[in-house]
Amino acid sequence: AFAGCTSSEQTPAEEQVIIEETTVYTVGIDGEYPPYAFIDSEGNAQGFDVESARWIAEQQGFEVKFQPMAWDSIIPSLMNNKIDMVYAGMTITDERKEKVDFSIPYWVVNQSVAVHEDSGYTLEDFKSGSLVVGAQSGTTGQIWVEENLIDTGLMPKENLKASYSNFPLVAEDLKIQRIDAAIYDKPPMLDAIAGKPIVIVGEINTGEEYGVAIRKDDPELLAMMNEGITALMADPYWEELKTKYEMT
Ligand code: ARG
Repeated sequence: AFAGCTSSEQTPAEEQVIIEETTVYTVGIDGEYPPYAFIDSEGNAQGFDVESARWIAEQQGFEVKFQPMAWDSIIPSLMNNKIDMVYAGMTITDERKEKVDFSIPYWVVNQSVAVHEDSGYTLEDFKSGSLVVGAQSGTTGQIWVEENLIDTGLMPKENLKASYSNFPLVAEDLKIQRIDAAIYDKPPMLDAIAGKPIVIVGEINTGEEYGVAIRKDDPELLAMMNEGITALMADPYWEELKTKYEMT
């Protein structure tokens, strides 16, 4: 094959080819979590977190693809290698930290409480434990109700309906008053109740921090995400994204 080459120092052509394979990381999302992550009408992943992940991937030299899945199976899926990270409004909690690692925080939210506008229920009614409350399964909203209303004896545990796989289903049940109240992170709550006879009656100042969840055996990806988040938050694109998704 190298008939013309006489020098023994000549490197065979195939060894000169540098094969650059870009690593593709799979990002788990809940496809019903606007403005952070959602699937648009064309089937594409969109949102503040989705676009952040794309920007970081480009900046750090890898690729991302998005895998929508049920929220309450997202940590098991990460631990079982079905996805490589969760970038979808996940609150950093001590319980989750026992199973997965988290990036540096990139956002802070509170829980908000909503009721049907005809009901007249207040935040005090909610906090007294007298309402039937809906929450998305596996969320910090569900955990807040368990720890602060059920475990304290204020609310019977059957009054918490937390088998909903996504929040729009909670909002539907609140709309038809099958439940009295709903609890959720404020930005996606605002999105889900838009145009419905549902009002937010108050906030619970949990001050929870969102982080990207990564398997504990993947410190390399964790380091890249931390670098990427730091760079993104210092870049003008961060402000652009906040404006685009009306984040305050
Ligand atoms: N921040 C809350 C939590 O971590 C709710 C997150 C729900 N996220 C989602 N993509 N559905 O539990």
